[in-house]
Amino acid sequence: MDDQQFSNQAYDDVIDRVAADAEAFWLEQARMLIDWVEEPTRALDSSRAPIHRWFPDGELNVCSNALDRHVAAGRGDQPAIVYDSPVTDTVRTITYSQLLDEVSRFARALSDRGVSKGDRVVIYLPMIPEAAVAMLACARIGAIHSVVFGGFAPAELAVRIDDMQPKAVISTSCGVEANRILDYKPMLDEALGLAESAPDFTVIVQREQHRCGMGEDDVDYTELLASTPTGIDPVPVRATDELYVLYTSGTTGRPKGIVRDSGGYAVALAWSLPNIFGLRPGDTMFTASDVGWVVGHSYIVYGPLLAGVTSVLFEGKPIGTPDAGTFFRIVDDHNVNVHFTAPTAMRVVRKEDPEGELIRKYDLSSLRASFLAGERLDPDTYEWTTRVLREATGRDIPVVDNWWQTETGWPIAANPLGLTRFPIKPGSPTKPVPGYRVEVVDASGAPMPVGQEGLIVIRLPLPPGTMATVWGDDSRFVSSYLSAFDGCYLTGDSGYIDEDGYLFVMGRTDDVINVAGHRLSTGVMEAVISSHPAVTETAVIGVHDETKGQIPRALVVIGTSAEAVDADTLKAELIALVRKEIGPVAALRRIDIIPALPKTRSGKILRKTMREIADGVENPAVPSTIEDPAVLDDLHSVLRSS
Ligand code: COA
Ligand code: AMP
Repeated sequence: MDDQQFSNQAYDDVIDRVAADAEAFWLEQARMLIDWVEEPTRALDSSRAPIHRWFPDGELNVCSNALDRHVAAGRGDQPAIVYDSPVTDTVRTITYSQLLDEVSRFARALSDRGVSKGDRVVIYLPMIPEAAVAMLACARIGAIHSVVFGGFAPAELAVRIDDMQPKAVISTSCGVEANRILDYKPMLDEALGLAESAPDFTVIVQREQHRCGMGEDDVDYTELLASTPTGIDPVPVRATDELYVLYTSGTTGRPKGIVRDSGGYAVALAWSLPNIFGLRPGDTMFTASDVGWVVGHSYIVYGPLLAGVTSVLFEGKPIGTPDAGTFFRIVDDHNVNVHFTAPTAMRVVRKEDPEGELIRKYDLSSLRASFLAGERLDPDTYEWTTRVLREATGRDIPVVDNWWQTETGWPIAANPLGLTRFPIKPGSPTKPVPGYRVEVVDASGAPMPVGQEGLIVIRLPLPPGTMATVWGDDSRFVSSYLSAFDGCYLTGDSGYIDEDGYLFVMGRTDDVINVAGHRLSTGVMEAVISSHPAVTETAVIGVHDETKGQIPRALVVIGTSAEAVDADTLKAELIALVRKEIGPVAALRRIDIIPALPKTRSGKILRKTMREIADGVENPAVPSTIEDPAVLDDLHSVLRSS
């Protein structure tokens, strides 16, 4: 732990107030932080418990809170978004007034074409300002957006289109990476061909790096805006109306559409900016993530804008665009106060620039904190990041591990810099954020003793901003998250709480893995591999990787008729299949063909044991119910080989 002492008074006060009356606390925050069309008079609707809804009688517009009110308050000339794109050699500043103008005109264009409150819009865009414009334009007219990450394959996009049944899809001609152009339009067309549901129209942002051919139902974004000279007023929605749906990997093949409401989310984000991130209106936040992930929704688009903060929208990678100093060049160029990225990004920076020489090239005097989330922050990466930032600035820049999920929408545990600065214990995101009542329990729901690992749950009701339900499926929300233990939300993570109340999050308890900060399901990969005719059985496990945190490895058993097939050809086919069906983001590169999978007598595949062997755990846990120990013994050398 570091020695510096900070007063915890402000944090303790908030904890006490939330403990005394959470509803009164959040109602007060709601009134202070958000402009309402109808101010809520009630905080919580628990009439459908275990499903709870925040601010049931409130009405607002999230876009208007993110843009109009700041312009009205005189912030119109402040940059809202700074688009920094080393891959296209572009830096463009968009002020709050300019963003409001473009968003409200695009919102009108959508509305003129029949998109209205409650309709869905799928957004399939890379990291360009139009992604934020599209999201906010939907929010302005009460349409529900669903952003799909660019690294997913057409088949995954099609599944989401079918689940959302959108009126419109907004996409682009291309994505731009350091060394290649990603042809978006053919992927979109393929997805639309696969999907059963057809949108009324598609809007295409033509990028000069690679223009695409346009079909009958495609509308050019620039032409659409040019022919829409006036904007549209924000449409009031209920606080409980859906703002967006964001799909995430679950334990089954079907991705889950996490539904976010409007009012609770706006309140939670507007609260988190000053209290967790220590950011005030006029400050600058640089979140190096992607709008396709929850971190991008909350801390590239909605959070900073709701709080009147400038957001840097970065189209590039931590390395190779052009080098490992990029993040820090941006901090210098745009006077960034808070930087946020995934631990994996810092690990790749470290690999390229182990001594932080590129980092020291830049003036980081504006930087107040570096936030890391999306996967476990290993102590080594924490120590390295802290050290290189200290060497570059001569100051102690807090490196803040924060733990949360697509489902929660904002941090569950973090060092809340606006309230205090807890001494850091590397490997821990410190303590729960006020509003989250985090507990660790055993399989029967009984509390685990201090320091012992168990299942992490959060007592209901969850605070505002957390998931409202699963899109179109309340019962899946209840069965997946709310029914394991009475009155609790099951996070799917395991961990422990130590004697000082610090939380340690150790890993998932389900088949979700985290590859380079991307959340993936091994179950989905298994389903794709099993669809190959040569495969009789497979298990995909997430094994430790120095840089990406985890990487998937597949163990495959083939049928007798496939034994004559060349093994390398088959492996290449399976890798290509996963890439085609799930997308490049699945990043499956290692497959081993084996004679049999180790199982319990009841037929359960010993994935955890295999993972522990692959990770080099000294005494991997082997259940006493194992069917044939010889199968596992034979696998040792395969699993241990890298
Ligand atoms: N669109 C299309 N393809 C994408 C993509 C996108 N938005 N993002 C990744 N891909 C592709 C990559 O090009 C790569 O393809 P390849 O196999 O043909 O090379 C594949 O998906 C795997 O990508 P990834 O695992 O991300 O590896 P990488 O080497 O390209 O990048 C990192 C590694 C660490 C730089 C990158 O993963 C990263 O920045 N991660 C942080 C994630 C994050 O921000 N998470 C949110 C929490 S903050
Ligand atoms: P996602 O929904 O993509 O944000 O992924 C959420 C999952 O990532 C969590 O359930 C955790 O397993 C993992 N995760 C995110 N942040 C952290 C963190 N700071 N520490 C440990 N695990 C994390």
